[in-house]
Amino acid sequence: MERFYITTAIDYVNGAPHIGHAYEKILTDVIYRHYTQRCDKTFFLTGTDEHGIKIQKTSKEQGMSEQDFCDMNAQKFKDTWKTLNVDYTKFIRTTDKEHEKVVQKIFQKLLDKGDIYKHSYTGLYCSGCEAFLSEKDLTEEGLCPDHKKKPEVVSEENYFFRLTKYKDAIIKHIKTNPDFIVPSFRANEVLNQLENIEDISVSRAKSNVSWNIPVLGDDEQGIYVWIDALSNYITALGYDPDGSSETFNTFWPADVHVIGKDILKFHSIYWIAILMALDLPLPKHILAHGWITIDQTKMSKSLGNVISPIGVLEAFNLDIPDPLRYYMASSAPCGKDGNYSDDDFKEKVNAHLANSMGNLLNRTLSMLVKYFAGDVNQEFLGKNELEQAAIDTIKAVKHHFDYFEVSEAAQKIIELVDITNKYVTDNAPWALAKDGQEEKCGIVLTNVLEVMCVITSLIYPFCPNIAKLMAEQLSFDLSIKLDDLTCKNLKAGHLIDKENIKPVFLRMDSELADKSK
Ligand code: ME8
Ligand code: MG
Repeated sequence: MERFYITTAIDYVNGAPHIGHAYEKILTDVIYRHYTQRCDKTFFLTGTDEHGIKIQKTSKEQGMSEQDFCDMNAQKFKDTWKTLNVDYTKFIRTTDKEHEKVVQKIFQKLLDKGDIYKHSYTGLYCSGCEAFLSEKDLTEEGLCPDHKKKPEVVSEENYFFRLTKYKDAIIKHIKTNPDFIVPSFRANEVLNQLENIEDISVSRAKSNVSWNIPVLGDDEQGIYVWIDALSNYITALGYDPDGSSETFNTFWPADVHVIGKDILKFHSIYWIAILMALDLPLPKHILAHGWITIDQTKMSKSLGNVISPIGVLEAFNLDIPDPLRYYMASSAPCGKDGNYSDDDFKEKVNAHLANSMGNLLNRTLSMLVKYFAGDVNQEFLGKNELEQAAIDTIKAVKHHFDYFEVSEAAQKIIELVDITNKYVTDNAPWALAKDGQEEKCGIVLTNVLEVMCVITSLIYPFCPNIAKLMAEQLSFDLSIKLDDLTCKNLKAGHLIDKENIKPVFLRMDSELADKSK
């Protein structure tokens, strides 16, 4: 694989990021970092969705101009991703001038092509969804099922996009590409939705919504926020109907759009139709992740259980985001819902990262110093009983990432840690040393350290800081590509001194943990 382009959903900036937003960005960052270990050219796009009636209303409520409000909140997203070490290549804001200009051109191109036409319409608009809903989408009480709010009756002359023209082609694409929608069990949902689709309104009357990108040459109409938002995936790379950039030509089509299951319809139907209308190649995969609940309940402002990812790091006094990254990325099987709870977080990262993985490295290096003055001898190298388990794990982890099964990959890595711990217990190198079986003891320790190098490389996408600390102590080159990763990483010679052995992750203590409640 030569190049890899991955995107997240762009978040509405009507508030600060919460742990659900963080889940998606961490998941994407872990996949991205894994693929940097496999390809030379990679691009990771994230950003913020800043237009529409929801932002217009919220900024007004806060007594701010829309732009100031967006600037303030977009910065909160950027700061949060920085703290969580979300290593994006580009952060796009839909109020970026270049983006706005290209969205207008895209709209014009579809208009020129006859795929956009004018039509009078009355519909039910949910500002939470930023979408028209049909009667049958609503609950018995007539509410939006996601936002539990009554949609507004909107009667306007709008521009419409000929979605129905692309219906058969989309159905065919989904059916002939069973791995297009990940996980595949969601494809049926989309196929059912496709049965009943109609052309969609792609503009709003300026008199009703002013905070949007104007339709070129029509002062009365603004472009629908979802057309604007979805286009970010190509405008960010430098797509232009009049001639695209080198970056666009290198990276489009996307390998995967990572999004939440609630916005799958927009991505697997609307976005695909737009790309077809623009004669552009389609993304290879759409990964629809599940929802993060808090203590098994839905997060909501009214319940007061909205959790801030930075708040979690502060409450647990964590100076690196690795534990939260590891916990979030492994919180749910691919596409399924996950849960955050303080107790579970603490328990899981203490068990996996501190007790199993961190201790293993620490104990082994300490024994190497105690019995061999920190030296790896030539005769210890090359005998590796554990090698097969490590090689199998590299293969399994790559395979899981081929299918974006992030938590499944994490589980494989921790299984290798467990196997290695068992190997230490079974072979009791301290007993071998006591018995005077020096060479045997040395072989056991180097075998473990070899596998620790593999674990370091595999855990890196989840825990970049911890991996770096491990790599330093093992003199292991973290930039090695996974295709070149073997169980022959150590060199004969002096590896480490006592004072350079540092715990890579300390247990989160229960007293601190309680403070987060
Ligand atoms: O939908 N658990 O923005 P958004 C997991 N602007 N994921 C969650 C979540 C939770 N509790 N809450 C939200 C939008 N998300 C549009 C996207 S893309 C061209 C435009 C996810 O701020 C949600 O599923 O409402 C979505 O993928 C992302 O956060 C942004 O949600
Ligand atoms: Mg939402």
